[in-house]
Amino acid sequence: MNLLVTGGAGFIGSNFIRFMIDKYPHYTIVNYDALTYAGNLENLASVEKHPNYHFIKGDICDKTLVNDTVKNYAIDIIVNFAAESHVDRSITEPDIFIKSNVLGTQVLLDAAKDHNLRKYVQISTDEVYGSLGETGYFTEETPLAPNSPYSASKAGGDLLVRAYHETFGMNVNITRCSNNYGPFHFPEKLIPLMVTNALEGKDLPVYGDGLNVRDWLHVMDHASAIDLVIHNGRPGEVYNIGGHNERTNITIVKLILELLGKSEEQIRFVEDRKGHDRRYAIDPTKLTNELGWVPKYTFETGIKETVQWYLDNKYWWSRIKNGDYMNYYEQQYGAK
Ligand code: NAD
Ligand code: DAU
Repeated sequence: MNLLVTGGAGFIGSNFIRFMIDKYPHYTIVNYDALTYAGNLENLASVEKHPNYHFIKGDICDKTLVNDTVKNYAIDIIVNFAAESHVDRSITEPDIFIKSNVLGTQVLLDAAKDHNLRKYVQISTDEVYGSLGETGYFTEETPLAPNSPYSASKAGGDLLVRAYHETFGMNVNITRCSNNYGPFHFPEKLIPLMVTNALEGKDLPVYGDGLNVRDWLHVMDHASAIDLVIHNGRPGEVYNIGGHNERTNITIVKLILELLGKSEEQIRFVEDRKGHDRRYAIDPTKLTNELGWVPKYTFETGIKETVQWYLDNKYWWSRIKNGDYMNYYEQQYGAK
């Protein structure tokens, strides 16, 4: 099997590649990534010399390079992780989100169609469903109601995937996962930002009242679910992925401080995110019943391991938290 993994130098893509090389060392894995601010080949240092791993630096909007790569490596399946992924950045700079997440998806779909690939898998998000009230869960039947430029661009990509299945009969799957956490998570996102700020003695900026709810899943449990979808997902189907780990943001922040032995005085409540979705919660019944997926991590073990990973890998995140990152940080939080 020859897999084209787009966005494989990012947080989830790099964890997925390590998972797949470990489980299927005989598969060819081509990591195709533009290396935006979020892409980092250091995430893949442990597999870069593996004989069946290849890296191509390229943009998914580049039709020629995408098609050449699919042809040259005799790709069977595309798994598309490549995207602009941060909601806050989509509020200030939406253009690139539409380009990469919508147009880039169309370029990849055309390549999959023109080269008659076995399957196309779109890695999407629960954010396309919008926001929940205090009860209920997102199922695959929940209507799409995205609220941020990021989630709207992901919904746009999903609708193209659906349309290519309906129009051209392509074998596609869409996965919609809840919030991931784990190693190599870029420190603009809640958990790695809070862990690293706490370690640096900085404020921990909590949006609004801190009572927004996210449903957390360890990135390796996400990888095992995608593996099942790639191999056994039924053509044209959407699969929600989540492990029933709903927590308010303030609970997460306090837990991180407790695990690090730091004071809650570091918490700073700041202005709320615009259009901030209140609650996400995934119903993963379809994935469990049809494909037999079972997550390995409890949130308690996963978060402890993750915090320890940031303690052990300061070299990784301290190299990121300078230069352009600090310009972004200052613009976003008004402080260095
Ligand atoms: P990330 O921002 O860490 O990584 C994105 C990767 O895509 C980077 O390596 C970047 O260089 C690459 N990329 C961006 N634009 C590109 C382009 N035009 N061409 C080629 N490469 C490009 O993101 P992530 O958190 O790893 O998310 C990966 C995917 O999973 C995204 O599609 C995201 O929408 C989805 N997702 C993320 C989460 C989460 O909690 N992080 C949850 C559900 C779904
Ligand atoms: O649900 C899946 C989505 O999860 C993915 O599709 C996105 O790519 C991913 O970034 C993530 O989106 P969120 O917006 O939920 O994640 P983020 O880490 O940015 O924020 C999590 C929650 O924490 C959210 O309610 C906003 C809040 N938050 C975030 C930051 C960065 C804060 O309170 N303070 C912060 O500084």
